[in-house]
Amino acid sequence: MKDVFILSIETSCDETSIAIVKNGSKVVALTILTQMDTHAEFGGVVPEIASRMHTENITMVLEETLKKANMKVSDCDAIAVTYAPGLLGSLLVGVEFAKVLSYVYKKPLIKVNHLIGHIYANKIDNNMHFPSLALIISGGHTELIKMNDDYDFEMLGETQDDAIGEAFDKVARVIGLKYPGGPNIEKLALEGNPTYKLPVPLSDDSYNFSYSGLKSGVLNLVNNEKMRGNEINKADLAASFQKNAVDELTRKLDLALSKTNIKNVIIAGGVSANKYLRKEINSICEKHGAKLDLPEFIYCTDNAAMIGAAAYPLYLKKNFASLDLNASSSANIC
Ligand code: KG4
Ligand code: ZN
Repeated sequence: MKDVFILSIETSCDETSIAIVKNGSKVVALTILTQMDTHAEFGGVVPEIASRMHTENITMVLEETLKKANMKVSDCDAIAVTYAPGLLGSLLVGVEFAKVLSYVYKKPLIKVNHLIGHIYANKIDNNMHFPSLALIISGGHTELIKMNDDYDFEMLGETQDDAIGEAFDKVARVIGLKYPGGPNIEKLALEGNPTYKLPVPLSDDSYNFSYSGLKSGVLNLVNNEKMRGNEINKADLAASFQKNAVDELTRKLDLALSKTNIKNVIIAGGVSANKYLRKEINSICEKHGAKLDLPEFIYCTDNAAMIGAAAYPLYLKKNFASLDLNASSSANIC
């Protein structure tokens, strides 16, 4: 079979990224331009600034990617783009850019759900095995999904309030760490011990998650200690929060592995870059004799290579989008 090259575009949040991916699993070229430093000044992503920066940078990111690959747009077989979920203004920049490329170069257009992209990050230089349990842990989502086959998803559980990444970012802000909070909490937690007693998120028998109680627990603890004039040990607090947040995931994964007897686990989304989390999830998988697939660090957080990987099964099925494709801030996987 002829090799398939997909030019893929990701602009759902604060990374402008374009990749060329061969046969859904080999990254020929990838460029990620992050706006993180700009948004850090505001303590979080400012949607209006994010979309303006995508508009300014996207052509340059395309040129850079084509140069790295030593290819032209016309050498590619399809144009794939993240159309949902995410910041609407940011998504629209990518979607419109993809539509123009598809029209001008007469290439099929493929629409990709960002979360499915995170799952297919596991396909890069790797293979996915089914059935599997996929744990999606990002800034906006915390979901446990059963994957029966390519693009065959069954929702087992999801967060009832905040997403895990959102909780990392908010707690980081409360203890005075910069955006994005996740990596900074991870770094600080290495210097501390989980000595603080914090609320246990959702210790029930469902596959659902909850993070707002844990987040409020940290907030209350910081306020109470401040009022008493006590100094907080920030490293111990970071370690305590991280432990409780990860325990919530491992408890539910443990339950799902026991009940379903599935032997493959995938983790996906920005929070899967956390090394403590990777270690803890790995030990739960070992306990059940399950195979754990982890994306390489660069493919954990937002990038266009995962969009190219997720677009490939759609290309094979000729599941193409029309030129009236619109972006959407929300979308479910199943
Ligand atoms: O998947 P992603 O890049 O964007 C979304 O689709 O949301 O995930 C971003 C989230 C942020 O909340 C960020 O703080 C978190 O992933 N994150 C981490 C780590 N790296 C990124 N959380 C904990 N530990 C990390 N090392
Ligand atoms: Zn993401």
